[in-house]
Amino acid sequence: MTRTLIAGGATGIGAAVARLFLAEGGQVMVADVNEAGLDHLARQADDLPGNLTTCHVDLARPDAPATVAERADAAMGGVDCLFVNAGLMLAARLEDWTPEMWDRSDAINLRLPMFLTQACLPALRASENASVIYTSSTGALRGHAGMPAYHATKSGILGLVRALADELGPEGIRVNALLPGWIDTPFNNGFWDHQQDPDDTRARIEAGIPMRRHGSADEVAGTVRYLASEAARYVTGTRLVVDGGYTAV
Ligand SMILES: NC(=O)c1ccc[n+]([C@@H]2O[C@H](COP(=O)([O-])OP(=O)(O)OC[C@H]3O[C@@H](n4cnc5c(N)ncnc54)[C@H](O)[C@@H]3O)[C@@H](O)[C@H]2O)c1
Repeated sequence: MTRTLIAGGATGIGAAVARLFLAEGGQVMVADVNEAGLDHLARQADDLPGNLTTCHVDLARPDAPATVAERADAAMGGVDCLFVNAGLMLAARLEDWTPEMWDRSDAINLRLPMFLTQACLPALRASENASVIYTSSTGALRGHAGMPAYHATKSGILGLVRALADELGPEGIRVNALLPGWIDTPFNNGFWDHQQDPDDTRARIEAGIPMRRHGSADEVAGTVRYLASEAARYVTGTRLVVDGGYTAV
């Protein structure tokens, strides 16, 4: 039975992954700052065979990795899959960016994956099939005006994946990146707010996606399940794009 720690999973992709693993009888701990979202997920988990633990925490805090790793160990007796999924997308014109905005983006998008992996290392070492998955973005491959920190940090995850895959591969711990494209979740609200005409922007974006639509969180969840599974035992140091063809054209 897979023991999965999801950092950032009260809503959207992380919640879909939690439901999928719980439906298969897995043990899951979701750490998130959104208390109402965690409560909602816990109610959904009541109808599923797996076991859910929730942990209300601001993952941007420097002490969060140690706290969360400890709680996961206590709740699940170890971690097989570490899915670091929380993200922050701030949008502003270049002249309005501040170092504080940059640091907030880095804290959640790049520092958290690094130090949560470090904190979970003893648990991952003890697993028979340890898999670390970071949510990057097709924003690591393309860029949009107004979001330099998002694109820089999501690109940074690809470098982090390569370095840690090399360091942890000899111990059988796999490290990979998930790159979703345009997925319908609350996450993009900041982006839409930054657009003069959100409907027009959405129509133009979808016209450029071969599948002509946004994806759903459930359509991303299966790829996380694959990366965590035995089927992916020789897959490490790489990235999996789930974008309806967005970056193919
Ligand atoms: N939705 C998309 O189009 C899209 C595209 C590419 C990449 N992504 C990435 O997918 C990931 C998940 O986003 P989503 O689309 O499911 O959106 P979402 O907003 O539904 O999920 C993000 C989750 O992370 C949590 N979170 C954020 N900051 C946190 C913090 N400081 N402490 C604790 N929890 C925190 C949120 O509460 C939320 O539950 C993000 O990393 C995002 O960058 C999303």
